[in-house]
Amino acid sequence: MTTNAIKLAPSILAADFAHLGDQVAEAERAGADRVHVDVMDGHFVPNLSMGAPIIRSLRKATRLPLEAHLMILNPDVFVDAFAQAGTDSFLVHWEGNNDLSRTVQHIKTAGKRVGVAINPATPVAVLEEVLQDLDQVLVMTVNPGFGNQHFLHTMLPKIKRTREMIDRIKPACGLEVDGGIDATTAVLAVAAGANVLVAGTAIFNDGKSITAAMRRLRTAVQR
Ligand code: DX5
Ligand code: ZN
Repeated sequence: MTTNAIKLAPSILAADFAHLGDQVAEAERAGADRVHVDVMDGHFVPNLSMGAPIIRSLRKATRLPLEAHLMILNPDVFVDAFAQAGTDSFLVHWEGNNDLSRTVQHIKTAGKRVGVAINPATPVAVLEEVLQDLDQVLVMTVNPGFGNQHFLHTMLPKIKRTREMIDRIKPACGLEVDGGIDATTAVLAVAAGANVLVAGTAIFNDGKSITAAMRRLRTAVQR
C-alpha cells in the first residue's frame, strides 16, 4: 500500500458548531478526503450528538463525501432519512444488531457505501461472513461515545488481523480507525494496516489552525 492511499476523515464532533461550515471548508482546502459525522442517541452510547439536519446543512457547505457513523440503536430506522439528507456512506456497529446483513443490504439498496464498526472488545472474526459485502471496516480505537480519549494501543494487533482478513477476503475494502488518532498514533495505525484515519480533537483543536493540524497528520503518515 502506498502512503498517498491514506485517507483523512476529520470528525466534526470536535468542531466549533457555531462555525461548522467554515471549519469544514478549511479542512477540505487542507486536503480532507471525507467528513466523519458521529451520530449518538444516548442509548447505544452514553452521549448525545447530532442527526440528519447536520448532514443536510453540511451537504450545502462541502463537496466532500459525508460519512455517518451511527452509534445508535436500530440504525435501520434512520438510514433513509440520513441517505435523503445527503449521506454518502454509513458506518453501522456490529454490536447490538441482530440482523446486521439486513442493515447492510438496506444501505446498499439506498445506493450508499456501507461499513461496519467494531468496538474494542469485539473480535474482528465476527465480520468474516459479512466482509465481502462491505466497502469499509471501522476498528474503534477507543470505546465509542466521546471525543478526546486516549488511543488504545492494545488495538494494534487487531488492526493487523483486520488487514489480513481484508486482504484475504476483500482487498478493496477500506480499513478505518477512529478514536485518539494524532500524528503519533496515526503512524502506528497505518503501520498496522489502516488506510483511513478519523481524527477529531487532533484536527479541530480549540481555535488552533485546522490547516496546520491536517498538514501535521498528513506529513506524519507520509514519512
Ligand atoms: C468516538 C467517535 C469519534 C470521535 C473521535 O465515539 O466515534 O469519531 O469523534 O474523536 P477524537 O479524534 O477526539 O478521539
Ligand atoms: Zn466516529
